[in-house]
Amino acid sequence: MSHVDLGDLGLDRGGHLLIKQALSTVPVGGVVQVIGRHPALPVHLPAWCRAQGHEVVEVGPGGGRVRRGAAEVGRWAGAERAGGPAPDGLVARAPATWGLAARGALVEAGGPTFDYPLDRREQVWADDAPRLYTQAAAAQWDPATAIPWDAAVDLPAEVEAAVTQVMTYLIENEVAALQVPARFLAKVHPHFREVLQVLAVQVADEARHIEVFTRRALLRGPALGLSTVGGQASLKTLVDEPDFALASFLLSVMGEGTFVSLLKFIADHAPDPVTAAVARLSGQDEARHVAFGLAHLRREVDHDPALRGRLAAAVERRHSALQHTAGLNAEVHDALVLLAAGAWTPEAIGRGHDRVVALVGEMDQGRRHRLKMLGFTEGEAAALSSLHTRNFM
Ligand SMILES: [Fe+2]
Ligand SMILES: [Fe+2]
Repeated sequence: MSHVDLGDLGLDRGGHLLIKQALSTVPVGGVVQVIGRHPALPVHLPAWCRAQGHEVVEVGPGGGRVRRGAAEVGRWAGAERAGGPAPDGLVARAPATWGLAARGALVEAGGPTFDYPLDRREQVWADDAPRLYTQAAAAQWDPATAIPWDAAVDLPAEVEAAVTQVMTYLIENEVAALQVPARFLAKVHPHFREVLQVLAVQVADEARHIEVFTRRALLRGPALGLSTVGGQASLKTLVDEPDFALASFLLSVMGEGTFVSLLKFIADHAPDPVTAAVARLSGQDEARHVAFGLAHLRREVDHDPALRGRLAAAVERRHSALQHTAGLNAEVHDALVLLAAGAWTPEAIGRGHDRVVALVGEMDQGRRHRLKMLGFTEGEAAALSSLHTRNFM
């Protein structure tokens, strides 16, 4: 017979843990001898045993004998293992009753039913998700120290105004890029933990982009630039998209992918080190956002080739909805020309204009490349890329 000596320890100070541990070493029906000197032991032991479903065979001043009951086993009889902790423990569809439980936990039966519409592996998962999360967590930068805020920024007024206009435009795009993943974050079943983590860091990245672009815009003056109807109309079609696959396609594959080119262009032609740094660091984060969007959509398209038709329809629908709007605001376009020109001579402005035309071509090439990675043909990719919003995001 197994036995446990509690010494002076009472059940009111954790003595039950030792009894529980001793009972776990015997089979159901097995008996454990409990010895102890605590004066309340003869009262507390039977009470605890009753509550736990064990039987007291004998009890007295120095302890007693306890038979392990079956009730405790019964409580967990209907429990279910919520997959396995590693990604190879993922299930195809996560049950609503697993709820918030850690992946791999033993979930007691009879719990609440949660509402997670994104509960299928093929809807959200990417094999790259764990790696992308680790990489994203390691690549977080501190806006206070990563940007040379104290560098000399003394630009001619019209160049400073151009930077402010570009930053103002970037900020509203970043807000959309923050809110789109944030909307879906709470709809993803927690079984797909790494996907939640990737999206959460993506949201944090966008929060940082909003911060640094705002701070750069206000570095030399108190006023922000213009926000246009065309720009907001374009972003509204993105923010309103209710389908996760379509929203991440429009946002990450089409929009953020295009922004990677734009931010690189701004970093390359920045008139000051602060503008260069905010564009460069944000662009690095964007490349990760694109990588996750592409990775999970590739997986979903492989699993469900009909999705390709829905992706194409989403681009066409957005194009029709926006065809009567201006797209990129003229001030942003002109600001980019001026930044790329670097001077106020006809030759420089002409060169700046050519560089913006080349940028738009580069953006188009990038979109076509990503569309082909999703299985679109050369011709389909070219057609869809040309329908992408002129607002870039
Ligand atoms: Fe961003
Ligand atoms: Fe982003």
